[in-house]
Amino acid sequence: MSILEVRNVSYTYRSSYQTAQALKNVSLSFEAGTVYAVTGKSGSGKTTLLSLMAGLDLPSEGEILCGGVSTSSMDLQEYRRTKAAVIYQSFRLLPLLTIAENIMFPMELAGMKPKEAKKEALALMKRVALPKKYANRFPAMLSGGEQQRVAIARALAMRTEILLADEPTGNLDSANSENIMKILCDLAHEENYCVIIVTHDPSIAEASDCVIRMNDGEIV
Ligand SMILES: Nc1ncnc2c1ncn2[C@@H]1O[C@H](COP(=O)(O)OP(=O)(O)OP(=O)(O)O)[C@@H](O)[C@H]1O
Ligand SMILES: [Mg+2]
Repeated sequence: MSILEVRNVSYTYRSSYQTAQALKNVSLSFEAGTVYAVTGKSGSGKTTLLSLMAGLDLPSEGEILCGGVSTSSMDLQEYRRTKAAVIYQSFRLLPLLTIAENIMFPMELAGMKPKEAKKEALALMKRVALPKKYANRFPAMLSGGEQQRVAIARALAMRTEILLADEPTGNLDSANSENIMKILCDLAHEENYCVIIVTHDPSIAEASDCVIRMNDGEIV
């Protein structure tokens, strides 16, 4: 069984003055241990698709199944906490928390004791090749590539099986992009994560195992 399945999903943004159909009958299935790149021109529905897979909303039609269970029958908050972690282009670290505290945050939310969470955070920093001495620094003291590695460590701290990333290398130079992509590929291939990356970058798409192309809300 695939870890994540998008089944006949359509999505329409509605506001008082307009509606926009962002996804039209999209069906996809995703396996563990694999890196997927979702590409397509601006406005083709990539972020919308990722947002539904992240449990930020439910499809207007169709369903998203995680481990065979529809997100419409789950508590979405619980789903977001335990099933699918998201990595953003702009990192979204908490500026007033140290690097270690940022990574500890989801573990403490999940009820882990601070001491244990700190130990785990240091191990995760090592996993994404961040020096231990950064533990007590603040996000603003790190480069973009380093901040993105913190964001990946924080996502890993959630212990989900699915990692979703929306343009994770969009703010990075090519050396840092390559480095982030290598970490994401290793996580899939060595630790069996299902990694789904929205990207405009052809080199990211090329380095992934499977490329999904979108156009005007549909899979090409
Ligand atoms: N909050 C919103 N309200 C109304 N329409 C929206 C909203 N967000 C996105 N859309 C529309 O839905 C369509 C798909 O948008 P989406 O953000 O998923 O595209 P994208 O492929 O991620 O684009 P980009 O590459 O520019 O990030 C677009 O036509 C967009 O204008
Ligand atoms: Mg987008």
